[in-house]
Amino acid sequence: MTVAKVALGEALFADPVLSADGSMACATCHDPARAFSAETERPSGITGELMLRNAPSLLNVGYRPLLGWANPSVDSLEQQALTPLFGEEPMELGNGGAEDALLTRLDGAYGDEFDAVFGEPPTVGSLVRALGAYQRSLLSLDSPWDRDPGDASLLEVCVDCHAGEHLGGEGFEDPGTWDPASDDAGLAEFSGDEADNGLFRVPSLRDVADTGPWLHDGSAATLRDAVERHQRGRPDDVDAVLELLPLLSRE
Ligand code: HEC
Ligand code: HEC
Repeated sequence: MTVAKVALGEALFADPVLSADGSMACATCHDPARAFSAETERPSGITGELMLRNAPSLLNVGYRPLLGWANPSVDSLEQQALTPLFGEEPMELGNGGAEDALLTRLDGAYGDEFDAVFGEPPTVGSLVRALGAYQRSLLSLDSPWDRDPGDASLLEVCVDCHAGEHLGGEGFEDPGTWDPASDDAGLAEFSGDEADNGLFRVPSLRDVADTGPWLHDGSAATLRDAVERHQRGRPDDVDAVLELLPLLSRE
């Protein structure tokens, strides 16, 4: 990770040159002003097709052992980036089958930068490495709560699942927020195992006040709704917890 590689990744992340029709960037769905999440319940890619799930925050994403709401097979940022760049189901940035066109656009817009950082014209490998370096620089570890955690008992019931210094980001659970009638079976979509129905990765509570709408499908329009829909880990004093959550955001 070098300063120049992170800077190149930052520019690429925000540049619609990454999409086949020049209409959207990574930052369209991972908005820096919303802790790198999207304002819609479920975002859509260049063709308007809705994605299955809500766009998660990318803060501290470099520390996550697994990426995505319910996919235990994606474990590196470089591997993950191939999905929005080239995936077709659903289509996000829409470069599937048009890799050469993407690299030609990048060479035109960022040829000098790729040469300076990687010593060669852009490749898919160097593109995802630059994006990965930038995403690893997105950190949130210093919030008002880190300096003054206040009443420790408030989050006691939460940290069983929202665990560790990132307050979540790993492990699959169903706190009772899953609707069995929905068309998203969670981890079972991947494993095909009914025992995995409704399991989703525990999201991090850091900066959570800034990432609405909430839950895997964005169906919670308010933080209160997200917390109250927990059947497991539901706090006795919801109001006190709701006052605490904004203190988990970096300043
Ligand atoms: C059309 C909207 C959209 C675009 C564009 C998009 N993403 Fe995402 N991103 C999502 C959604 C939705 C998810 C959650 C997918 C899931 O888990 O099913 C996601 C998940 C991720 C994750 C996993 C985060 C975590 O906490 O596990 C990373 C990393 C990521 N995106 C990076 C990128 C990068 C890099 C780009 C640009 C190359 C990009 N995204 C473009 C919507 C988008
Ligand atoms: C049994 C494990 C478990 C416990 C205990 C738990 N949660 Fe969760 N929480 C989850 C999971 C898993 C999700 C994602 C569920 C989904 O998307 O449907 C989640 C989602 C959330 C969200 C939405 C986050 C987002 O990015 O959309 C908030 C806010 C939240 N929890 C707060 C809390 C608070 C506050 C407590 C304690 C009072 C708590 N949770 C206790 C497992 C748990």
